[in-house]
Amino acid sequence: EKSGYDHFMLKEIHEQPTSIQNTFAGKLMELEGTVRMNELYLNPEQIKHLRRATIVACGTSWNAGILGKYLFEKLAGIHTDIETASEFRYGNPVLCGEELTIAITQSGETADTLAAVRSSKSYGCRTVAITNVVGSTITRESDSIVYTRAGPEIGVAATKTFTAQLITLYMLAIHMGRTRGVITADEAKDLIVNLKRLPGQIQRILNRKEKIKECAQQFADKRDYFFIGRYLNYPVALEGALKLKEISYIHAEGYAAGELKHGPLALITEETPVVAIATKGHTYDKILSNIKEVKARNAVVIAVANEDDKEIEKYADMVLRIPASHEMTSPVLSSVVLQLLAYYTALAKDCSIDKPRNLAKSVTVE
Ligand code: F6R
Repeated sequence: EKSGYDHFMLKEIHEQPTSIQNTFAGKLMELEGTVRMNELYLNPEQIKHLRRATIVACGTSWNAGILGKYLFEKLAGIHTDIETASEFRYGNPVLCGEELTIAITQSGETADTLAAVRSSKSYGCRTVAITNVVGSTITRESDSIVYTRAGPEIGVAATKTFTAQLITLYMLAIHMGRTRGVITADEAKDLIVNLKRLPGQIQRILNRKEKIKECAQQFADKRDYFFIGRYLNYPVALEGALKLKEISYIHAEGYAAGELKHGPLALITEETPVVAIATKGHTYDKILSNIKEVKARNAVVIAVANEDDKEIEKYADMVLRIPASHEMTSPVLSSVVLQLLAYYTALAKDCSIDKPRNLAKSVTVE
């Protein structure tokens, strides 16, 4: 069943070149610079008049949702909030009918996410569910259902379903951005070309996983890890930290890099590896400054950077490379690197990778 892999998690990481292709199959209209989203029951007028979107999710799906917020704001010009479903449902959301709630849930069964959707509906919001499981409870509760089509995921730690969620969010954002006239056909084409390159680029990362394995082994005995990133790489840092803590039991924090100096810098010593997502984009110089900040406290810095980036070698102790991609799409590639880092760390510690202690694949209790 594991098709020769030692764990389902490793198998599922390796399935990503294919699962991503399944996620976007038949949807990317490269020549027209549009994305076909027939499953979205929102007509162009409704999309044009959307005032706000709220994304609700838990765990890894919530991390995906943060990228979703940035994409909807940048590509579709829609003010977007992202909320942890368990907080949203007990807060006092101010919602009205011209708004959209987007629930992201791999299993479609997470109790808090279902409750957040029900609560949004009671305010008259339209609801969209992004889920991987056909016929799951969320599909009976939402107006529109967008399936991520990543195939069944057995490992408790979400991997291929996370990247499938990201791809779905790119497609939704491009679709809405074109409908609202926020991005041009050429801008959309550029993003679509970059999306289509991802499967091959992920394969390239997988082919060179030995380097990531060596890095993981070197630091597997550490007690604490930090992951830092800015803007689109901030959710990548959060997800990298979540993967590491859930399967290797190493304490890990994901931080918006600019927040480090507001407290957590006090924890950084030569014993804390800091993973910095330092791919090319408009926050590149800023993350370099953050790397210098932690280097000054003697931290070991592991950078995730582009293949052609020579400069980074001056700052980081170790560099894990990803192929060049659009600033908006590179988070998918960096995430795969961090999935492998977590996997090989847990492997070096002989952890129960597919069934980490205390965790269940779907959380149907509140
Ligand atoms: C982490 C993980 C969990 C889930 C969370 C939400 O690897 O899998 O954090 O992401 O329990 O689950 P879904 O997406 O099924 O609602």
